[in-house]
Amino acid sequence: MNDLFSLKNKKFLITGGTRGIGRAISLRFARAGAHVTANHLLKKASAESLKDIAREENLAIDIFRGDISNTKGRGRLEAMLNERNESLDGFIHCAATGVHGPLETLTKRHFDWVLSLNTIAFFELVKMLLPRMKSNSAIVALSSKGARRAVHSYGLVGASKAALEALSRHLAAELAARKIRVNILSPGSVVTDAWDALPEKEKRLDETIHRTPLGRLVTLEEIAYTAQFLCSDAASGVIGHTMVVDGGAAIME
Ligand SMILES: NC(=O)c1ccc[n+]([C@@H]2O[C@H](COP(=O)([O-])OP(=O)(O)OC[C@H]3O[C@@H](n4cnc5c(N)ncnc54)[C@H](OP(=O)(O)O)[C@@H]3O)[C@@H](O)[C@H]2O)c1
Repeated sequence: MNDLFSLKNKKFLITGGTRGIGRAISLRFARAGAHVTANHLLKKASAESLKDIAREENLAIDIFRGDISNTKGRGRLEAMLNERNESLDGFIHCAATGVHGPLETLTKRHFDWVLSLNTIAFFELVKMLLPRMKSNSAIVALSSKGARRAVHSYGLVGASKAALEALSRHLAAELAARKIRVNILSPGSVVTDAWDALPEKEKRLDETIHRTPLGRLVTLEEIAYTAQFLCSDAASGVIGHTMVVDGGAAIME
């Protein structure tokens, strides 16, 4: 039977694919039969442990270490893809950074830093990857609640995600005729290393659980399964959508 949800033999580039949500997506996609290139920047231990799992489970996961927030890093990525003569069935932009605090304490330098990875890298990578994107391929941008709501100490990341969402919707409209589907995946809070940079982590997570109809935080796997759906042929009609995976938190007052 043709399994519409299968990713068998499809090729994906996942930025930030070695830790947190990106790592869960790398593993889910590879377990669904895909060849994954997981990009990361600094933390070698996470990349090595992902390689170990791939070896144990016989999964097709390659690691590309490089800073995609600048032209040089993106150039190295392109050279690597050229060398492999790689075409792609999908691109997932998970890599993100943040400088957290009240906006009046932050500077344009902070804003440039956040935008360069969260938003501009996505724009540049989409343009760079387009010539190698196959028909019926998918692009997914990872966003967050801060794109639409005011979240304590999250102003710069929220603004970068709002721009990322707007870009994604415009790309979705422009690329649909080329049979490339662009969507946004917006997870609720899920405990990853990124939370260590946020003030009052425990209090905020407790409050989130309290107001979430599901009664708990969503899991990395729940987010990864939704990414799989968005990149599979089962989602052939889903274009320019923001898929919220938050256990219902966003519907509450
Ligand atoms: N966690 C949440 O609660 C939550 C909620 C909503 C949305 N999101 C979104 O989901 C995505 C993933 O978040 P996360 O919490 O899983 O993040 P995370 O655990 O902090 O992981 C970040 C990943 O991005 C990589 N990275 C950072 N800077 C990079 C750069 N310049 N070039 C290439 N790779 C770089 C990191 O590589 P190294 O390991 O080498 O540093 C790591 O693999 C983000 O877009 C985030 O905004 C997260």
